[in-house]
Amino acid sequence: MAVAAIPAGQGVRPAVNLRVDRWWLQPAVTFGVLLAFVIYATWAAFWPHDFVAITPHGNRLLSPFYSPCITSHCGPGNLGTSWHLVSWWPISAALLVLPFPLAFRATCYYYRKAYYRSFWLSPPACAVPEPHKRYTGETRFPLLIQNIHRYAWYFAIPLPLILLWEAIKSLAMHPGVGVSLGSLVLFVNAILLGLYTVSCHSCRHICGGHLNAFSKGPTRYWLWRQVTKLNVHHMGLAWISLVFVAATDGYVRLVAAGVFHDPRFF
Ligand code: FES
Repeated sequence: MAVAAIPAGQGVRPAVNLRVDRWWLQPAVTFGVLLAFVIYATWAAFWPHDFVAITPHGNRLLSPFYSPCITSHCGPGNLGTSWHLVSWWPISAALLVLPFPLAFRATCYYYRKAYYRSFWLSPPACAVPEPHKRYTGETRFPLLIQNIHRYAWYFAIPLPLILLWEAIKSLAMHPGVGVSLGSLVLFVNAILLGLYTVSCHSCRHICGGHLNAFSKGPTRYWLWRQVTKLNVHHMGLAWISLVFVAATDGYVRLVAAGVFHDPRFF
């Protein structure tokens, strides 16, 4: 972090930005990527067409934004394994599913830092003054809601497993079993989302928290160490999984619309 020299005798001026490096670059990129994702995800959630593709190999590719598809809107070829718990839902099936990953991601400790800086400029970067006069933190409504994160984790943890199940199902082709590019995309997406969910700070606390001595809980200590190794990469996993889940939705839509034919490897 580069800062300008303070002229002798003037002391520290806390309200002045003394940084002369490109401190604005990171919040600007964060702003651009998050905004692009929000726009794309909103469009995908409210455009309930082409979110499931039945390929010429006979397998089904389901967009992660619509998984698990618990309405009857998944179209033909769902192999009888979709959970049609809700048959009366009149609008996009994604709106029944997305609140859970949305609550988890929006309250993620890493994303909070990212969007507090890039959207609220609070502060925009280290050692850069923020425009707001008062700071109340997360002790009052609405930011008090951020504290649901640890509970949102419990709802989020089944989702990568469901996506993994969807990926496994996509291997069912005609004839027999095979692997296509779409299947691989679904697998990679499920794994990335799984790593992001397991590397969560709350998961680390669930594994190793409330223990006075690790020697009293060797299994939890082992779990805590494994999650800690992943937790180091939480920021990277947050970005990669975010971009890849949108890319997976885009891939399925292109195949479903007939723009692209899902190649089968074997
Ligand atoms: Fe990021 Fe929990 S801290 S998902």
